[in-house]
Amino acid sequence: MSNAIDTATVAGSHGSGIIPVYDPSNEELIGEVVDSDQKIVDEAVARARETFESGVWRKLPAAHRAEVLFRAADIIKARTDELAAIEARDNGMNATAARHIIKVSHEMLVYYAGWVGKIHGESSNLVSDGLLGTFENYHTFTQYEPVGVVGLIIPWNGPFFIAMLKVAPALAAGCSAVLKPAEQTPLSALKLEEIFREAGLPDGVLNVITGYGETTGAALTAHPDVDKIAFTGSTEVGRLIVKAAAGNLKRLTLELGGKSPLIMFDDANLDKAIMGAGMGLLAGSGQNCSCTSRIYVQRGIYEQVVDGLAAFAQMLPMGGSDDPNSVLGPLISQEQRARVASIVDEGVAAGAHVVTGGKMLDRSGYFYEATIVTDTTPDMRLIREEIFGPVGSVIPFDDEDEVIAAANDTHYGLAGSIWTENLGRAHRVVNELRAGQVWVNSALASDPSMPICGHKQSGWGGERGKKGLESYFNIKSVYIGH
Ligand code: NAI
Ligand code: MG
Repeated sequence: MSNAIDTATVAGSHGSGIIPVYDPSNEELIGEVVDSDQKIVDEAVARARETFESGVWRKLPAAHRAEVLFRAADIIKARTDELAAIEARDNGMNATAARHIIKVSHEMLVYYAGWVGKIHGESSNLVSDGLLGTFENYHTFTQYEPVGVVGLIIPWNGPFFIAMLKVAPALAAGCSAVLKPAEQTPLSALKLEEIFREAGLPDGVLNVITGYGETTGAALTAHPDVDKIAFTGSTEVGRLIVKAAAGNLKRLTLELGGKSPLIMFDDANLDKAIMGAGMGLLAGSGQNCSCTSRIYVQRGIYEQVVDGLAAFAQMLPMGGSDDPNSVLGPLISQEQRARVASIVDEGVAAGAHVVTGGKMLDRSGYFYEATIVTDTTPDMRLIREEIFGPVGSVIPFDDEDEVIAAANDTHYGLAGSIWTENLGRAHRVVNELRAGQVWVNSALASDPSMPICGHKQSGWGGERGKKGLESYFNIKSVYIGH
């Protein structure tokens, strides 16, 4: 095991198996983690439950809890280089992208640390009709109570950040948590547990367990003592989680797949629009739930945009975790790359045209070229499925109504991007897009304060912002008669 990351091997090796962890940019083995069996899951849930019931975290003064979260944020900032190096090797992304992931994770934690103790109910004095025709007086109030033990299940794209998207509001609310990172990228989550402990989080409040989805993940989602699951990943697994959660009717937050449209009108600032479309498609090599992989371009500018996007795609340097100049990294696994290739090949066999890309790179690591496709039809997997790779289809359109119908012709509803200099048109299209997040003259903008709530089959509930925090609370209504 060359260049092993020493924290990769976790304690508790009585788990049923071992999972090898690879750097997808060079296929080197960088560590091993436990595939946690039912016993380990039970123990983690029991630790979380014990801390929740004892109140060792949720009953602390708000200022103490906020201090712990701010301290953890300081530690993350101070250890950016080390965390970014782990994230880069685990996911295959380059150092710049990894540092960005650590930076936005820090910002997310600071955002939620600032909310601790600031979520309050409402109160009123009311008079109600009593049973015997009398009036009764009440002082009423609502209060927010942490939902309990939460299971957090995350994918491999931006693992430290997606972990923080869940851990920060869960802890800010006073919940106790069990976090299961993706089997492909478990390493930075293990660091998170260590960092919160160092910051003063009581033992057992945040428990990180590693394992495969079908084993550890399934055991966590079906566990009768878990009150809520927050999940990011495929729509397919989202459905499995809905079924598994039925046993004790767990609360669910589901951040699922997307097939987001980008719409470019002929009055757009073309230089900016082409760059925006390129980054919206290719950031993270397309392994991004909000990736804008259906690019609708008004007919008059179509050829120019196809050429511009192809040039943009060809310009981006590809490289792995050790290449400071790379912009495009590898896909996460051999399996994922094969899936991406099969979607492109199937489209080509049915008449689609590859303008640029469309091939695997002849080197170690799971690289796939940045790919621009034209001549698709709406039934192709290129247009229907979340590809999770650097593959975009460019589709011409004539007018606003036509493009709105095409953009909404999907089971997904995560995001959308509109490029126009016409303000009225921007508002009209924003109103008609069935998506939880819409950018105008931008793609992929995000802020901790802005919730993402997937429409249609892109999810249930929302994350980020006050809305995201509220999903970690139960509300209690209290009537005090007097
Ligand atoms: P996945 O949805 O299977 O994995 C995400 C997480 O769920 C991982 O931690 C995994 O271990 C866990 N998981 C898997 N099966 C589970 C189960 N039965 N019960 C509980 N947890 C389970 O995603 P995968 O297989 O890694 O990627 C497949 C496709 O899913 C991708 O090609 C992409 O289209 C989509 N995806 C979408 C993401 C998004 O953010 N929208 C993130 C990751 C994948
Ligand atoms: Mg899967």
